[in-house]
Amino acid sequence: MNQDQLKQLVGRAALDHVPAGQVLGVGTGSTVDCFIDALAARIAAGAIAIPGAVSSSERSTQRLRSHGIQVLDASEVTGLAVYVDGADEIDGRGFMIKGGGAALTREKIVADLAETFVCIADESKLVKTLGRFPLPVEIIPMAAAQLARRFARLGGEARLREGVVTDNGGHILDVRGLAIDDPLAFETEVNQWPGVVTVGVFARHRAQVCLLGAADGVKTLR
Ligand code: A5P
Repeated sequence: MNQDQLKQLVGRAALDHVPAGQVLGVGTGSTVDCFIDALAARIAAGAIAIPGAVSSSERSTQRLRSHGIQVLDASEVTGLAVYVDGADEIDGRGFMIKGGGAALTREKIVADLAETFVCIADESKLVKTLGRFPLPVEIIPMAAAQLARRFARLGGEARLREGVVTDNGGHILDVRGLAIDDPLAFETEVNQWPGVVTVGVFARHRAQVCLLGAADGVKTLR
């Protein structure tokens, strides 16, 4: 099975976690695209009904709407039972690096609304220690140089993602060379730096369920 087939596999597997009759939180990325397509097919078949979704990006909003799924604003809900999203890295405790698609800020906002984060990924994303994937950080542009110096003190090399402006008008720093042994402490520290909008470590908003696609099927980590 190639990586695209693994993404389709976990996208379909996540349908078992969609709460019928409830608004769903929907993340961003190529794996989530597979999930949205599978969800739409299931709805069209009459096997499941949801009143709509809260989306974490313009990209996912467009895809949901193209399938006729209603997209609600985050302010229209008081909470969500489930949020389904991908990850760039995930460890055995459900801590993640996210933001490869630059949607990390809205992803964290929607994840914060949800009781359960269901992560869908192929098994290449499972790591022992977070940090091999360059850590995305959404920032206010004027803070870029100072934030790069702060990351350098932690052993990281930060580079501005050229030509990328987020859905919120922010910029993205990608930080290479980090080994994030304590994701919770790291997230708490970086969150306090002036100019950081969102750090792509999801520790406070870790995945409670992770569906990992592998050649021999879907593995569930809880
Ligand atoms: C989007 O900003 C990211 O957090 C994605 O969830 C993450 O990059 C996973 O994307 P893929 O499913 O495309 O690998």
